[in-house]
Amino acid sequence: MHSTVICPGSFDPVTLGHIDVITRASRMFDRVIVGVFVNGEKHPVFSIEERIDFLNRTVGDLSNVKVIGCDGLLAQCAKDLGASAVVRGLRAVSDFEYEFQMALTNRKLNPELDTVFLASDASYTYLSSSIVKNVAYHGGDISNFVPACIHDEIFNRLRH
Ligand code: PNS
Repeated sequence: MHSTVICPGSFDPVTLGHIDVITRASRMFDRVIVGVFVNGEKHPVFSIEERIDFLNRTVGDLSNVKVIGCDGLLAQCAKDLGASAVVRGLRAVSDFEYEFQMALTNRKLNPELDTVFLASDASYTYLSSSIVKNVAYHGGDISNFVPACIHDEIFNRLRH
């Protein structure tokens, strides 16, 4: 069966942890759509165009991965794109409650839509976009957190 999944997120900015999950998904499914969401609850540092560009430069070489901007409900976007499942990375047990709530909400809104959780690589369990922003703001070393090809742009924008 041809499988299309969506990896949604804010990706503000993309981290090595996100790339790990997207790469794992690309090995498991025929087609992976990385959906960069506007997310009105958050105030992103990077514009949606920048976030899409960072992702294209880091996962763009995976032949079955496509990066797009998304607005509105994930459940509706998944339907419009023909995605049968949402893929989310789980770093630790603390992620589970929020992720489970989202998965069940999305299934209520779109009964066809399942959520698949992929365990992140153990070396990224502490990592998040917020950590990257916080460390870089204070001039700390983020070279172990973000891909080398976009490191300088991210660091120079975030450094206080
Ligand atoms: O990277 P994030 O910030 O954890 O991603 C959260 C995201 C974008 C997946 C989530 O906020 C989302 O699905 N936003 C779209 C709006 C929506 O569908 N809300 C209802 C789901 S609870």
